[in-house]
Amino acid sequence: MNALLTSPNKLKLGLFGTNGAPTMSTVPEIWRPDWARIVEVAKIADRAGLEASLGYARWKGYLPGMPEAGVANIMDSFTWAAGLSQVTSYTTHIATVHGSVMHPVLAAKQCATIDRMSGGRFALNLVGGWNALELDMFGIELKEHEARYDELEEWVQILDRLWTSADEFDFEGDYYRVAGGMSRPQPLQSPRIPLINAGGSDRGLDFATTYADIGFTVPQMVGLDAKKKVDEYRASARAKGREIQLWTYCAVVQRDSRAEAEDYLHHFTVDHEETELADAWQANALKAIAHTTRISEDDIRAMRQRFVASSGGPILLGTAVDIADQLEEMSAIGLDGVLLIWPDFTDGITRFVAPGSVLTELERRGLRQPFDQSAR
Ligand SMILES: Cc1cc2nc3c(=O)[nH]c(=O)nc-3n(C[C@H](O)[C@H](O)[C@H](O)COP(=O)(O)O)c2cc1C
Repeated sequence: MNALLTSPNKLKLGLFGTNGAPTMSTVPEIWRPDWARIVEVAKIADRAGLEASLGYARWKGYLPGMPEAGVANIMDSFTWAAGLSQVTSYTTHIATVHGSVMHPVLAAKQCATIDRMSGGRFALNLVGGWNALELDMFGIELKEHEARYDELEEWVQILDRLWTSADEFDFEGDYYRVAGGMSRPQPLQSPRIPLINAGGSDRGLDFATTYADIGFTVPQMVGLDAKKKVDEYRASARAKGREIQLWTYCAVVQRDSRAEAEDYLHHFTVDHEETELADAWQANALKAIAHTTRISEDDIRAMRQRFVASSGGPILLGTAVDIADQLEEMSAIGLDGVLLIWPDFTDGITRFVAPGSVLTELERRGLRQPFDQSAR
């Protein structure tokens, strides 16, 4: 049973990136991928009925010569998802793959294996890759933007056939050639394991609405009309006779008063910003977005604090009621799900799911139902 698809909640929730370090801060409590802490947080989320936990994919950071810095220190999201599936019973675990660095024959089998291990609680986030530094390690050149999606289209077509085809098949494309393709076991979920895609450009949006079950997007980007962006995804999917969900992610800074939350945000994102890393991220991001007309360089600079706090999502700030207000706004613009990031996931999720806190507020507003533990 895959909670991404079966959850009755109007606003679905999950964790984003416990396999790595999504926050660029030097405070001592900052999250680092420590397995015991990851398991503890996953179990809290599972007991509270959070639908999703997504691990992102990173092979190295943005900063040559600092192998331990921030996002460079990240666990592989496939083995992470497989492990977590064995200590949880409701949450769906999502791995992220860069199509260009993992052959679809390998990915099809790994995904089907985790799908069977987890009892159908697995999904795949498919990305084209953008960080040339990490592709250099594979000896792969970062393709020009449109070609990345051309390659990804072939990749996903092969994956789909490996997951569903009764017979062996041949595939001859511009990027892949598969002779006598087959994969067993095939996934438990039918017709297939849900796919997620986080493309943001026009081509990315078209790819997501053609192939994905969930578009993972940041509509509340500085300089964008959030509702318009969400509507664009829906219209594009419907024009193809499809319905897809739309999810986003954000940082949460929850305290007993708004002033305390503001102080803590300033403390971990400004006083203790991991500045060298944030500078390197910014320089890299500016190069990476050169192809897209949607995000300007000024917007990116304005978003630096958001990247330090949450790898770019909005920052939800304040008391439990304030946080619920902001989540309600996200639901109102048409988002189906939100993945959450805390500088310290253990502290953050504990506050969030406590009786009378954010989950209770969301239930009071009809955005979520009290979690039925028999669903686990
Ligand atoms: C929510 C979200 C999650 C992403 N996760 C990853 C990731 O784990 N690894 C990665 O290399 N890129 C990741 N990306 C980057 C996207 O794959 C993509 O490169 C970016 O959104 C730009 O889209 P475009 O190529 O359509 O312009 C993510 C993007 C978003 C919005």
